[in-house]
Amino acid sequence: AIPVITIDGPTASGKGTVAQKVAQHLGFHYLDSGALYRLTALSALRRNTPLDDEHALAKVAEHLHCHFDGMHIFLSNEDVSDAIRAEVVGNTASQIATLMPVRQALYGLQLGFRKAPGLVADGRDMGTVIFPHAALKVFLTASVDARAQRRYKQLIDKGFSANMKDLSMDLKMRDERDTHRSSAPLKAADGAHHLDTSEMTAEQAVQQVLSWYAA
Ligand code: CDP
Repeated sequence: AIPVITIDGPTASGKGTVAQKVAQHLGFHYLDSGALYRLTALSALRRNTPLDDEHALAKVAEHLHCHFDGMHIFLSNEDVSDAIRAEVVGNTASQIATLMPVRQALYGLQLGFRKAPGLVADGRDMGTVIFPHAALKVFLTASVDARAQRRYKQLIDKGFSANMKDLSMDLKMRDERDTHRSSAPLKAADGAHHLDTSEMTAEQAVQQVLSWYAA
């Protein structure tokens, strides 16, 4: 079987960076499942799809014309790699991710990322719902402060404005929503290795994941 490594965790915990680097080290494919929710959100915002119409939103998710090319993410041939990182898109993504029809619409698309020689998948429910038989499952966390700082840096680097106070509040709100929603709530998968990266560099976290995988 084609091996899968899942890396789940709360918002801005550094999953994306760690997952990408682990994928690079192993020569595996990479699935940024959060990007699919962000793409759905961006697409819905642009079409003015009502954010309380779960069936209309599921249609948007089902007909997502997206593709991934290295670090770049395209929606109908437009490079939206930066656009999907805006806070408004992240917030909308977090809202629509609570809707089961939207999650179901993205299910098959996510399974399709599993290709030889292997896949590293990051998100909230990679180990619990999408790839429950993964070879290695990691639950990656970090303190609210560490996460707010990482998100701040990420936004500033992309040319967005940001402030720490709003970001911390926003993080806590998203944690609330992600952990308490009824559809695929954020939690560690059975058998997941826990990794708190508050005091770790990305490279140290990558080495830990690789050594678990090798074990
Ligand atoms: O930057 P952040 O970690 O908040 O977001 P992300 O990983 O890009 O995902 C955007 C949103 O999609 C998150 O706030 C989650 O609520 C949702 N999501 C999800 O429900 N399930 C996943 N597998 C991945 C993301």
